[in-house]
Amino acid sequence: MIQPSLIVAPSMLAADFSRAGEEVSTIASSGADWVHLDVMDGAFVPNISFGPKFIADLRVHSNRPFDAHLMIDQPERYIAEFAKAGCDYITVHSEASLHLHRTLALIADNGAKAGLSLIPSAPVSSLIEVLDMVDLVLVMSVNPGFGGQSLIASTLRKIEELAALRQLHGHRYVISVDGGVNLNTVAEVAGRGADVVVCGSAFFNAPDRQQFVRDMHRMAGR
Ligand code: DX5
Ligand code: ZN
Repeated sequence: MIQPSLIVAPSMLAADFSRAGEEVSTIASSGADWVHLDVMDGAFVPNISFGPKFIADLRVHSNRPFDAHLMIDQPERYIAEFAKAGCDYITVHSEASLHLHRTLALIADNGAKAGLSLIPSAPVSSLIEVLDMVDLVLVMSVNPGFGGQSLIASTLRKIEELAALRQLHGHRYVISVDGGVNLNTVAEVAGRGADVVVCGSAFFNAPDRQQFVRDMHRMAGR
């Protein structure tokens, strides 16, 4: 089977916020695919980033899919606002939202695609009951909160587990991997079956972003 091209999703967390519009436009111009938006509330994770207004302001500078990753407690409180800001995918953490069926249905009702994220210590089995409701599963390969951390290799077997469950049950989700993905680690991540890779510091610190995206595809073999 020919595997589709890897989706590269640079994270705006590593961008220069004082030039955010220009920075987000380089995601498309360098040949990358999605815009990953890390929303942090200083409670679910020990860092604070940005909210829906920042995303709405960015929206006019990019026509790429906006992939919001909500690292916030009780994300259900803000789903409508993030959908209105122009997020195509809205991903929540299962640990942050008690009634997941309701939260995932709310994302769909607001016209966005629903994603669910797993922190490194959470097993795939914790999502089993709702896997039929999600369009994306985000495997965190670092503890959420900061860019520039090293990938925790033991998290990567969850990619294969999720791919096997998808095939077995006919689920529709794409598998995304987030944290420490760069030119040294992308081959292993892609080789295990990831559909999407998030890359923050590796993309924004690359001397030539277009070359970086080309190299990511070359290292991934797709
Ligand atoms: C971590 C965020 C990641 C992070 C990735 O909490 O969810 O998206 O920004 O950054 P790098 O690629 O630098 O690990
Ligand atoms: Zn993220």
